[in-house]
Amino acid sequence: IRRVAVLTSGGDAPGMNAAIRAVVRTGTQQGLEVVGVRRGFSGLHRGELSLLGARDVANIIQRGGTILLTARSRTWRTPEGRARGAQVLRDWGVDGLIVIGGDGSFHGAHFLQEEHGIPVIGVPGTIDNDLYGTDHTIGYFTAVETALDAVDKLRDTGASHERIFVIEVMGRHAGHIALDVAVAGGAEEVFIPEDSKPVSGVLDIVRDSVAKGKRGSIIIVAEGYPGGATGVAEAIEAGTGLETRVSILGHIQRGGSPVSSDRILASRLGEAAVYALMEGRRGVMVGRGASGMLYTPLHETWEKRKDVSRDLYRCAKTLSV
Ligand code: F6P
Repeated sequence: IRRVAVLTSGGDAPGMNAAIRAVVRTGTQQGLEVVGVRRGFSGLHRGELSLLGARDVANIIQRGGTILLTARSRTWRTPEGRARGAQVLRDWGVDGLIVIGGDGSFHGAHFLQEEHGIPVIGVPGTIDNDLYGTDHTIGYFTAVETALDAVDKLRDTGASHERIFVIEVMGRHAGHIALDVAVAGGAEEVFIPEDSKPVSGVLDIVRDSVAKGKRGSIIIVAEGYPGGATGVAEAIEAGTGLETRVSILGHIQRGGSPVSSDRILASRLGEAAVYALMEGRRGVMVGRGASGMLYTPLHETWEKRKDVSRDLYRCAKTLSV
């Protein structure tokens, strides 16, 4: 192969820039040309491509967001949109495409390869950590730190007013962020989509914690739990008569400078993605597990479910007394 392209797609995640840098520098060091695609698949079918050199990715490893910009493309969901994108890649003489993103982006990449034979490699970039085939996704560690910082601050005001704070974190359909934040933030309760326990089952715990003299309570709710934080807070107020406050952390969880674990993961995976293309791999996501580098067919990354850590879920319960 002579020329590879790289794009970021879907929700941005801290560490995407470090992954772009790793792809560009590994590629150029291996004698390849690297083309950056702006605005994800939207920019691809519109032909927003330009060559990137090692110096173009200087001073970005510490920056949140993505210098290539990102988008959730509707056009890419159509066969015509993908055909236009494939033609652009052929016109540019691109031999392989590296897609940094989450499951939606991997769907797009998978169909591009199936329909047009363009080799694709996925790099897991999403704060949600919801992809099978890697212990962690790029951006996850930073999102947990950002949410935790907010929880610590809410605890200060919550304890001062002796209030129950119900805090919603992101994660789409997964509870990974919620569970980590609950344990690290010493939450009284955590609600995740992987366990459909009803709020009514924890009303006694909430009442007890007040009776035990706890000054304020922190309850973490994953956005994917039915009803979200608002639903949980309403059920607690209705069931106990206790006053609650809801805080939905939202998109701040996607911003900020990536923590070291995200920068290192992104650097490893970006490098591995280029080597994977050079070795003739295609249609896989590069990931990282206890045993080292993993290569998982793209469709398995969304078809197989990555469960939350059940040990950690039990630990959250044990420590909330
Ligand atoms: O996938 C990342 C994520 O931040 C999810 O946690 C969240 O559900 C979603 O993206 C929000 O998407 P948008 O930025 O399009 O509102």
